[in-house]
Order: sequence, then structure tokens, then C-alpha cells
Amino acid sequence: MRKPFIAGNWKMNTTAESSVALVNALKAAVKDVTTVDIAVVPPFVYLAAVAKAAAGSNIAVGAQDVYFEGNGAFTGEISCDMLKDVGCKYVIIGHSERRHVIGEKDDLINKKVLAALKAGLKPILCVGELLAEREAGKTAAVVTEQTTRCLAGVAADQLLNVTIAYEPVWAIGTGRNATPDQAQEVHVMIRKLVAKLYSQELADKLRIQYGGSAKPANAAELIGQKDVDGLLVGGASLKADDFAEMIKAAQ
Ligand code: 13P
Repeated sequence: MRKPFIAGNWKMNTTAESSVALVNALKAAVKDVTTVDIAVVPPFVYLAAVAKAAAGSNIAVGAQDVYFEGNGAFTGEISCDMLKDVGCKYVIIGHSERRHVIGEKDDLINKKVLAALKAGLKPILCVGELLAEREAGKTAAVVTEQTTRCLAGVAADQLLNVTIAYEPVWAIGTGRNATPDQAQEVHVMIRKLVAKLYSQELADKLRIQYGGSAKPANAAELIGQKDVDGLLVGGASLKADDFAEMIKAAQ
């Protein structure tokens, strides 16, 4: 049985004050939840304060990106050890906005996944197709290639520290979520791929989140799909009540 995992990606939002207020409000709203893993993913500069506010609660903290090098002359980058130092457990890697706005490619994303695992962080590896790729019938090919390349070199005994997030690019921030059937279809495809790359046993244990316009109104139906093990939530995670409602829908 896979424990549901709901994470809130705050993206480039909040302030020093509102980030702490948001996690405090969420803490109160979900304090009795024990059957769902919960994480919030604030901007780098608020990680320490949010992690301090969340300490001792059922809310873990993650970062939105990381660099694969340990330290040194990499202006503007943040290392795995720095993230651990400020209380991060998770790190999102290969988010579609980093792929398509910033220009990250699978080989860089792969290096980040390997570095995070080596450092003891839990990567949330994002994959997903563009609208044009879906319309051209290339969803399976794109997601297969991204997943295979980004997991290259990940050992079997490291795999279950990874969560895969299927985030179709056309559903992110558009208000147009994938239907539960569309999400389930791709999640099954990813799980079959992982069974081929690793083993059926590991594939059955690996958690695969859905992301893309997930909100209180569609959360229960999406999570109700057999192979949808949780959500990676953007916009709706910025409101404590909405995000708490989605977490409770996964209970
Ligand atoms: P939205 O929920 O705002 O569509 O964002 C999804 C996402 O990109 C989460 O990482």
C-alpha cells in the first residue's frame, strides 16, 4: 500500500511574513492527519523560516531546485547540503517551468537527482508532455524518455527515495487539469516503465504524484485513481484552507 503524498509547490510566491503565516495556518488545519505525507515547498530564501515553523509537525519541507555540485564557484546556485542544513527533506527536480522557461535538459536533471539521493534528500522528479506533444500522440514517448534519462544511474536501493510527479505541461497553471482517466493512463505507463527498468516490486512501491491545476474540486477524484498516489499542487497550495482540504481528500 502506497501512502499518499501531497506536496505544495509555492513557486515564486509569498513573502518572509506570508510564508510563515501560510505554514502556521496549514499546521493547525492538518494537525490530526497521520495517513498522508505532507510537504510544503517554499522559495529558497524562506526555507529556513518555514522549516523552523514546521519543526515537530507533520509537515515536511522541500526546495524547488538544487545544484548537483557540492560547493565552490557556482554563483547563484544552492547545494544539497545547504538544503539539508536548513531543514529540507525533499527537493523538486526537473519541474516543467525549469525545463521550459529556464531551459534545463534531462542530463542536468539526472545529475541533480543523483546528487540529491547521494546527499540523503528525497527528489520529486517531474516529467510531463507539452500540449503539442500530447496532440501529436507523443505523450508516452516523451514521458518514457524523460523518466528513463532522469533516473539513469539511480540504484535499485535508492529508487524508493524518489517520487515521480507527472505534470502535463498544458495542465500547469491553466485551470485545465488532466482528467482522472488521462492521469491514470500515464501513471500506469510510468509504473510499467519502472517495472521494466527496475522490478515489479519496486514499481508497485514507487509513489507517483499528479500535478497540474489540482484543486479542492478535483482532488478526491484524481487521488481516487488506483495509480495516482498524491498531488503536486501549485496555485491551490497558496491557500491553507484549500490545500488542507486536498490533504484531507487523500486520507
Ligand atoms: P498548478 O497547480 O498551479 O497548476 O501548478 C502545478 C505545478 O506545477 C506544481 O508543481
